[in-house]
Parts: sequence; C-alpha cells; structure tokens
Amino acid sequence: MLSRGFKENLKTNFIGKKAIFVDETDSTNALAKREKSSPDGTVFVAKKQTNGRGRRGRVWESEDEKSLYMSILLKPSIDAEKISALTLVVGLAVCRAMDLYAKTEIKWPNDIVINKKKLSGIMCETAFAVEKPEYVVCGIGVNVNNSDFPDAISKTAASLKTETGKIFDIAEIAAKILNEFEPLYKEYLKNGLSNIIEDYKKRCATLSKEVSVVFDNEKINAYALDITEDGGLLVKTSDGEKILNSGEASVRGIYGYV
Ligand code: BTN
Repeated sequence: MLSRGFKENLKTNFIGKKAIFVDETDSTNALAKREKSSPDGTVFVAKKQTNGRGRRGRVWESEDEKSLYMSILLKPSIDAEKISALTLVVGLAVCRAMDLYAKTEIKWPNDIVINKKKLSGIMCETAFAVEKPEYVVCGIGVNVNNSDFPDAISKTAASLKTETGKIFDIAEIAAKILNEFEPLYKEYLKNGLSNIIEDYKKRCATLSKEVSVVFDNEKINAYALDITEDGGLLVKTSDGEKILNSGEASVRGIYGYV
C-alpha cells in the first residue's frame, strides 16, 4: 500500500502530516487546487494521473504506476516577488533526497538529472490574492521504476531503475523528499535563498556551461555564469549579461539536454 512506506519514513513536523493518497486522479496539482482549503503542507499523492501536466503546457507521462506523482499545498505568507525562488528550493530538496539512491544534479531551475537525462520535473503554481500568494501548489514527478519511456522522450528521460538497475519504494521516496523539503522551506521563508544557494550551486549542472536559452520566444546562445539570490540565472550573451527568471526562460545545454 502506497501510504505505509510513507508514514514509516516521514519525519516532518507539518509537511505531509495530512497526506491524501489516491489510486488515480487527473493531476495531483489539479487535485491540490480543488482541495485548496486543506491545511498548509497537505500532500497529495497519486498512483497514476490521467492528465499529468508539465511546465510550459507540456504533458507529463503519468499513466503507469511506476513513478512518483506528488503535490504539496503551501500557504506561505511572503511577498509575491519571493515566490519564484521556491521552485529552486523544491529542486534542491529532491536532489538532496536522491543522494540516498543515486548521484543526481539540478538543471536550472529545477529539473533533476541523472547521467545527463531527466529524472524528475517540478512545477510550482501560485494562486495570488492581493499582492500575496493565496496558496502555492508544488508538483513533483520522479521517474522511479520505469523500464522505458515513449519514443518522444526516450533519449532524454531516465528513471532510478534505468540508471541503477534497482527497484525502489515510491512511497518511501515521497517521504524522503518531504523530509528534505521541510527544513529547506522553513529556511527559505526566513532568509530566502541566502543560506541555501551554495548547496544549490554545487549541485547545479547548468553553471559554467554554454546554454541555449528560449526567452520571449527567441532562442539565443549564452554562457551560464551564476544563480542570483532570488533564483534567477545570470547569463552572458552577445548583448551583455542578463538575468533569466525561472518562470520565463527555458534553458538547454548546447550539446544535449543538460
Ligand atoms: C516539468 O515539466 O518538468 C514539470 C513536471 C511536473 C510533473 C508533476 S507530477 C505531479 C504533479 N502533477 C502534475 O500534473 N504535474 C506535476
């Protein structure tokens, strides 16, 4: 049962204390939004999704029961402009949790990559009240026990199984991610990224690389210099330095996915 490994491994104070497990839903992000009156930190986990969504309106393959599909409902009382950095915090939490299973890196802002292929995707969606977020839903997908992927993503996607040959407990992984996320989230609410950014940068595969950036529907080549304190990517382009915001820009390596 999905919830057993979760409860045995969860060590948090409030994130995931209320957790809703379903066999199937359209999208755990959509489910969390429908249940937005649930307490801060409520987690939604599905065995499969019939309409899994990725960033930029993409589909997130979710029809088997071999991956983790999880969303966290958060009610932070912070200013709206701080919210874009949260997506990096979630990425760091997933990357730290993966240390238990395999070596992974972060592709800015929050794809988790293994052997240069995508292992996990994160999509944070915010509903705004006046100037403050009303709630944020952070959706996390991790490819765990998949043996293969559809042709369209087979060259760029990986699972823990394809890279290690082992099978893992999906519910345990969910709990381990939340165990990493809670202290990082508390730190982010207090001090933003300032005490977190060094570890993020150490794990970031995008830095010091030539990248191809899609920004304002235009594709440009750039060199990734640094991550800013609010989670932007500082790049050098032929027009000078620019800061890319995690919500607006998409970045790929010039010689492959990372
Ligand atoms: C990406 O494009 O990289 C983000 C993918 C996010 C997928 C997760 S799976 C759980 C949650 N529910 C969704 O429909 N999407 C997110």
